[in-house]
Amino acid sequence: MKPSIPSRRALIVAAGASLLPLRPSLAAGLVATPAQTEGPFYPTSFPADMDNDLVQVRGQAAQAMGTVLHLEGRVLDLNGRPVEGALVEIWQCDAQGLYDHPRQPGRERRDSAFQGYGRMLAAADGRYSFRALKPVAYPGRAPHIHFKVATASGGLLTSQFYIAGEPGNERDGVFRAAARDPRQRERVEMKLAPAPGLEAGALATTMDIVVG
Ligand SMILES: [Fe+2]
Repeated sequence: MKPSIPSRRALIVAAGASLLPLRPSLAAGLVATPAQTEGPFYPTSFPADMDNDLVQVRGQAAQAMGTVLHLEGRVLDLNGRPVEGALVEIWQCDAQGLYDHPRQPGRERRDSAFQGYGRMLAAADGRYSFRALKPVAYPGRAPHIHFKVATASGGLLTSQFYIAGEPGNERDGVFRAAARDPRQRERVEMKLAPAPGLEAGALATTMDIVVG
């Protein structure tokens, strides 16, 4: 039997279709991660160690207090394509709710074994990963992890991740403004699962960051 050859018409249709801009219904149709305030605690100076392991500060024997959270995912564009080389930064308070920041009351009591801030470049497939802490609440805020993504093409997204199912989310004005619709909520709520294969006692979550 002869292999079927696409008709001339089919070829013309296919060629034409590839020139058309993607209609929203044909694009992967990913919902962008909603932007949220940077807040007052973005570092004013960066720690000497600012790798993607916030739980271990280089040169220190002690590990940070708190529950380890392996946070990983991909940086994607609205069509689901990986955004290679995006700079991903995260920052969060320590297990006592204290930031390493001049505006933080009680900063001197902070856990000096916690790095508090880390950064990395997304890989060719958009992957990023951090060894962070399960975030804790501090006065006025539900638990959250701040993050910023700067793309090579000049895009910048500043936002925050929360813990799915945390009752405090609904009382948090920043969360409520960002998660107006269920698909946006999915972008900022981390579903935490035990990760014994990675590390005893640790949790893990996968959060893709979709930049518009
Ligand atoms: Fe914060």
